[in-house]
Amino acid sequence: MKIDILTLFPNMFQALNESMLGKAQEKNLLQINICDFRQYSNDKHHHVDDTPYGGGAGMLLQPQPFYRAVDAINQDDAGPKRVILLDPAGQRFDQQLAQELAQEQHLVFLCGHYEGFDYRIEQLATDRVSIGDFVLTGGEMAAMMMIDATARFIPGVLGNGQSAYSDSFAQDLLEYPQYTRPAEYRGMKVPDVLLSGNHQKIAQWRHEQALKRTWLQRPDLLAQAALSSEDQQFLEK
Ligand code: ADE
Repeated sequence: MKIDILTLFPNMFQALNESMLGKAQEKNLLQINICDFRQYSNDKHHHVDDTPYGGGAGMLLQPQPFYRAVDAINQDDAGPKRVILLDPAGQRFDQQLAQELAQEQHLVFLCGHYEGFDYRIEQLATDRVSIGDFVLTGGEMAAMMMIDATARFIPGVLGNGQSAYSDSFAQDLLEYPQYTRPAEYRGMKVPDVLLSGNHQKIAQWRHEQALKRTWLQRPDLLAQAALSSEDQQFLEK
C-alpha cells in the first residue's frame, strides 16, 4: 500500500519508522511518503495560510498548496486513491473503517493545522475523518493512529500469522483476559480453568469473560453484537 502524508510537520512522523510499521516499510508492504506541502505554496515567503473572508479570529490554511500537492501525487500515480482529511467534524474512525481502508492501494492524508482550513480543501477529500470527540492541535497524530490501525489489516504486517481479525472489536466483543507465567503472582491466581487442559471449557470461559467485560465496559457494543440465546441467558444471570 502507498501512503502519502501532506503536513507542515514532517518530523512528527518519525514514529512510523519504529516497531511493526517500520518493519512493514522494510518489507515493502507499506511505502510511506511524507510531503511538506509548504513547498507547493505560490507565495514568495511560502506562506500557506491567510485571514478568513468576512472577518473573524485566526488564520485558515489556503486551498492552493493542498491542491497542487495532490496534483503532483496524481501525476505520479493516476490510479484510484482515498484522500482523507483529518477533521474533528468528520466521520468517526473505527475498526470497520480501518479494515475498509486496508483494501485500498493508495491513501493520501491531509493534515491541517492552525485554526482551520478553507472549505474548498474539504472538496479535495474523498473522506473527512475524526479519531474522536476532542480537538487536537493538528491532524498529524490522528493520521498516525489511522495508519497504524489500518496497516494491521494488511497481510504480513503483523508477525507470525497473527491476525487483526481476532482482536477486540473483531466480533463486536472486547477481548477476554489473558494470563502467562507465573500461575500465581502477589496473591493473584490464574483461573483454574486455564490450567485444566480442557479446551472446550477454556473456550467457553473465554467467551463468557468477553461477554462480561463488554457488558461492564462497553455495553453499547452489545447492542450490535450477534448474541446467541445462551449469551443472553448468561448476561441475565
Ligand atoms: N484534528 C484536530 N482534532 C482532530 C480529531 N479529533 N480527529 C481528526 N483530526 C483532528
